[in-house]
Amino acid sequence: MTPPRKLHIKSYGCQMNVYDAQRMVDTLGAEGFVETAEAGDADLVILNTCHIREKASEKVYSELGRLRVAKEEAARQGRAMQIAVAGCVAQAEGAEIVTRAPTVDVVVGPQSYHHLPELLARAGRGEPAIETEFPAEDKFGFLARPSREAIRARGVSAFVTVQEGCDKFCTFCVVPYTRGSEMSRPVARILDEVTRLTENGVREITLIGQNVNAYHGEAPDGSTWTLGRLLYGIAEIPGVARIRYSTSHPNDVDDSLIAAHRDLASVMPFVHLPVQSGSDRILGLMNRKHGASDYRKVVDRFRAARPDIAFSSDFIVGFPGETEEDFRATLALIAQIGYAAAYSFKYSPRPGTPAADMQEMVSATEMDERLERLQSLIDSQQAAFNKAAIGTVVDVLFERAARKPGQLVGRTAYLQPAHVMAPDNIIGQVLPVRIDSLERYSLLGELVATAAPVAGAATPLVFIGG
Ligand code: SAH
Ligand code: SF4
Ligand code: F3S
Repeated sequence: MTPPRKLHIKSYGCQMNVYDAQRMVDTLGAEGFVETAEAGDADLVILNTCHIREKASEKVYSELGRLRVAKEEAARQGRAMQIAVAGCVAQAEGAEIVTRAPTVDVVVGPQSYHHLPELLARAGRGEPAIETEFPAEDKFGFLARPSREAIRARGVSAFVTVQEGCDKFCTFCVVPYTRGSEMSRPVARILDEVTRLTENGVREITLIGQNVNAYHGEAPDGSTWTLGRLLYGIAEIPGVARIRYSTSHPNDVDDSLIAAHRDLASVMPFVHLPVQSGSDRILGLMNRKHGASDYRKVVDRFRAARPDIAFSSDFIVGFPGETEEDFRATLALIAQIGYAAAYSFKYSPRPGTPAADMQEMVSATEMDERLERLQSLIDSQQAAFNKAAIGTVVDVLFERAARKPGQLVGRTAYLQPAHVMAPDNIIGQVLPVRIDSLERYSLLGELVATAAPVAGAATPLVFIGG
């Protein structure tokens, strides 16, 4: 029997890449590969790359420099190592990657992962193995399903891609070019996948897509389901304790999504809703097709349906032509909305996007200064939001053992990490926790209630708070 081949995969970028990496591992697992944590030991190393900002994209080449040395070392030991570049840099740069880094054997774009086994075989025969087409078939229909063991090993919270690609063409963004146009997976496939996950211990499902609320999937009866409708379908699956979705676009928030937040307790009251800027002029130049007041109205609709809802967002500072006045409009919007968290980035011109041709660049010092001001406002909002949890009782989904012995870590509805001294057989349960204090971004608390008996446990668990 030939020993299994070892696979090392490193993912950069967004949640879509995390999900894709798992599916590549599942697909190559069916071909006899097992995962290894060490790139140096691997027979195959896959870099699953991100092209969103220049820094992310350049990381790939420094990593490839290190891998070239590892590959030479393996060759000296008589081992062949293959190197594959997947993800959005693969899609954007294609054959250029091999020109710049000849150590690369395979280049595979995000829509072609189901062709990986064939591409690796081609590379093994010394043939070119570069695929950056957008094939007509849906890769998800061909990628292997995870084994039950793999699902259990990955924990109680899982991502499920429901939608891919983007047709919005914000002028700064590479995603429509690297992931292609919008497509939605059929409803039945998604429900099957969620069922299999929950049958194997998963309790929290995060539906993901570059533009997840543009979802319009075909249902078994031939009708089209929106994301809101899909949330109702998923909420009915036994074992689903929590449902999240990311990333939404403000223009695609429809009444079915708002209704799902109103009606379904398992849909978490925490929404990532990027706005990028608070200036209507900059939003126009970004081709966002909404103004600041449209965004505020969307937030108000969510809040009317779910008063305890909280938001996070993405912001770009220093978009070409952004003035101090534009930037202040962003700060004003942040002050009005009040965020629980947010990501903020300095604008990075990306080759091939319309904004890359805009001339009025904001200076590096101004960008740094604006980023700092924006982040300090967000930090103060986040700190106030976290502080407000102290003294309250919140539901926590317990995920895993913490570093401190005897302590578990879980997450609140708002994804705040919560650390609690508790036995590890409550992993996978949602239990009430009284929050006592805050340590940086993490809540510390105690269990306050009697846990429901765990299926299969010999005795019911009893926790007495206080
Ligand atoms: N599909 C998601 C995420 C897109 S990428 C969405 O539509 O929101 C995640 C974030 O990266 C974006 O929201 C944006 O804030 C940021 N981003 C995208 N392109 C960028 C660029 N060229 N420079 C700086 N930040 C960028
Ligand atoms: Fe990029 Fe805009 Fe599409 Fe988001 S909506 S992926 S920022 S083009
Ligand atoms: Fe990056 Fe591609 Fe995701 S560019 S953010 S990995 S869609």
